[in-house]
Amino acid sequence: MNSTALLTADHNRVRGLFARFKEAQAADAAAAMAGLAEQIFTEIQLHTTIEEDIFYPEVRQGDDELEDMVAEGLEEHHVVDVLISEARALTPGEEAWVAKLTVLIENVEHHAGEEESELFPKVRRVFAAVDLEAQARRLEARKAQLGAPTMADKEHLTVEDLRRLAQDQEIPGRSSMDRAELLATVAPG
Ligand SMILES: [Fe+2]
Ligand SMILES: [Fe+2]
Repeated sequence: MNSTALLTADHNRVRGLFARFKEAQAADAAAAMAGLAEQIFTEIQLHTTIEEDIFYPEVRQGDDELEDMVAEGLEEHHVVDVLISEARALTPGEEAWVAKLTVLIENVEHHAGEEESELFPKVRRVFAAVDLEAQARRLEARKAQLGAPTMADKEHLTVEDLRRLAQDQEIPGRSSMDRAELLATVAPG
């Protein structure tokens, strides 16, 4: 798997959490919203950390356009980081907290969409596939250092397990994912 596919898998795991958060919000399920928000914060902070530690510094060397895209990405990460800090200072469920989460979700959806439609395709044009596969291994190693689940930790799961988890976690696009994509995307049960 290449690094852009691995990072896209992270995005889809977070999109599943967003879908579940919005359903909890529609159902007025305050405790579920608070629990999902914590998972959202953890996933986003892990993902932005590995992008900032490994992916961004390496791909910004590619050319001037990549340098600009990464500079914009870092600013967007900063905004998201501020929103998470501000949300954490509020009481889960209160009106301002819900509004903060709504804006956080909108920001992350925009940022992840832009990475997938502009940055990642450009990275795949500029860098060799073999280099992006090596980069994915560095991203996985950093996740392991940070105590987060890696693909290796989920290797024992069957395709049926992975499909069930993807459904429970409301992973978008799950029906067309192969085993490797499911493995990269689902959170361990
Ligand atoms: Fe990012
Ligand atoms: Fe990302």
